[in-house]
Amino acid sequence: MMTIYAEKCIRCGACVSACPTRRLTMENGAPVVHANQRCLTCMHCAAMCPQKAIHFDAVPSYEEYIDTPEDTVLQLITMRRSIRRFKPEAPERDDLAWALDMAQWAPSAKNLRPTQWLVVYGKDKCDDVYRTAIRLCQEQNVMPDVVAQQKAENRNSVTCGCTTILLALAPEGEWGDTDAVIAAATAELLLQHIGIGTCWGGYMHRLLAALPDLREALNIPEGCHCAAALLCGIPDETYRNVPWRPKANVEWR
Ligand SMILES: Cc1cc2nc3c(=O)[nH]c(=O)nc-3n(C[C@H](O)[C@H](O)[C@H](O)COP(=O)(O)O)c2cc1C
Ligand code: SF4
Ligand code: SF4
Repeated sequence: MMTIYAEKCIRCGACVSACPTRRLTMENGAPVVHANQRCLTCMHCAAMCPQKAIHFDAVPSYEEYIDTPEDTVLQLITMRRSIRRFKPEAPERDDLAWALDMAQWAPSAKNLRPTQWLVVYGKDKCDDVYRTAIRLCQEQNVMPDVVAQQKAENRNSVTCGCTTILLALAPEGEWGDTDAVIAAATAELLLQHIGIGTCWGGYMHRLLAALPDLREALNIPEGCHCAAALLCGIPDETYRNVPWRPKANVEWR
């Protein structure tokens, strides 16, 4: 259950813009919660709220709006957010290349570093990938939820209007996927460190697995598959607060 405290709310709409599932909408100038829409409990709404006016029953009040850590590493980790609103211009190529080069310092099984990066660069090309994916889904009846989101709500959870898609490609084999995911997670933090917005492209990843024609359109080399997709761009949104996260599920023996 979530509550928006009307007495604190200044009706700025920031929570509504941040909500990835459209559970929040603006009605008569005020945010409204739609209980029938899915909630990811991502807390993006609370992380965006300038008034700290959003409360989740499941969250203890003393944990709800914690201070931003002063430590720069903790700041990067807690303030890294999945960005889904991007400016139309792509980030500088050199900045993207820098993050991928620095991610070479990530650990790698037997130090093999098999990850290959495929970069779809520029808004037009990323939009093209999205359109191709939707067309193929329709033609081949694959992942109908993606098509339904596009048709009913004009919602793009596949590329989120990004301006660069980074695909971490892995060869078949023991640790290829693990290595690629570690490299992508490292690259993501580095990108956010230099102000580039990122969001993991789970839909993109699954569509590439399900649609050979999409792999062909992107020229993914034989013997390789997409192990991780990062949707990137210059953020068109700024999060203010650290969102609540549950404690780790740990069993000590
Ligand atoms: C493997 C993975 C796949 C994801 N796929 C998508 C996706 O396809 N579309 C999307 O909008 N967000 C996607 N996300 C983002 C998650 O929804 C997000 O990480 C989560 O809600 C927590 O928010 P935060 O990253 O801002 O902390 C994905 C995240 C991960 C780790
Ligand atoms: S927690 Fe996430 S999905 Fe749920 S209402 Fe807030 S922004 Fe939307
Ligand atoms: S972000 Fe906060 S202040 Fe703005 S509309 Fe949402 S609840 Fe109200």
